[in-house]
Amino acid sequence: MREVILAKSAGFCFGVKRAVDTVYEQSERKNVYTFGPIIHNEEVVKDLEKKGVKVINLLKELENVKEGTIIIRSHGVSKKVYDELQQHGLEIVDATCPFVLKIHKIVKEESEKGKQIVIIGNENHPEVEGIKGWSKTPVTIVDTEEKARNIVLNHEQEVCIVSQTTFNYNKFKELVEIISEKGYNIIIRNTICNATEERQTEAREIAKRVDAMIVVGGSSSSNTRKLYEICKNECKDTFYIQTLNDLDMESLGKADCIGITAGASTPNNIIQEVYTNVRTEF
Ligand code: F3S
Repeated sequence: MREVILAKSAGFCFGVKRAVDTVYEQSERKNVYTFGPIIHNEEVVKDLEKKGVKVINLLKELENVKEGTIIIRSHGVSKKVYDELQQHGLEIVDATCPFVLKIHKIVKEESEKGKQIVIIGNENHPEVEGIKGWSKTPVTIVDTEEKARNIVLNHEQEVCIVSQTTFNYNKFKELVEIISEKGYNIIIRNTICNATEERQTEAREIAKRVDAMIVVGGSSSSNTRKLYEICKNECKDTFYIQTLNDLDMESLGKADCIGITAGASTPNNIIQEVYTNVRTEF
């Protein structure tokens, strides 16, 4: 009998699952909006659209909307956006991941005490834009060695460094070290979430043990590609598929033991479909 191992960490992380579930629950109601796509997965967004959930990307798109519910996705938003949504009179359902909310709280409190805030993260990422918007003092965003080396802060004021949740830990350490050498009075809050790393570690462990490995995820999903590379390194028969349709059962050949994992934006029903079919095929 063939053994099939499904990674526990396959697919949505806790925060994204919570946000997607929230939108499905709310979709029963009328006039439901999400502020930005709830997740980078077209199938999920389209499915929600069919249920009447609309995506808005800018506040001004709400100009003519007088009632309804707006859902904040797991990345969170800045204080300004939050306040504006509130003033608009729509009901806000806040699905910001609790780990992101924790960073908002740190940034708000530390900046209120007068500290300068440094965010290690990608400037254009919505999560970082949101975090930045909770600071009472100017914020510096750093994502490269060069920016870390060129950083100029006020020596008279303390500095609080936080991180984007999905930032790579080694790179975070590297950038913090560069900034630390400049002699500022720094407190470091490592706010990296380990969901991504856990998913990668588990995928590697499974790929080592199996005869064939299946990685499920969108073709443009960079975290799925990364999972594929990790697995391929450990198991030469690693297959990257978007849905069950892409899976050539024959390519699994005589594999007695098969592993399955999936990227962060792969919905559970797609993962389950692959799992069930691979299990029952033989
Ligand atoms: Fe996911 Fe929240 Fe971590 S959205 S990656 S569990 S910070």
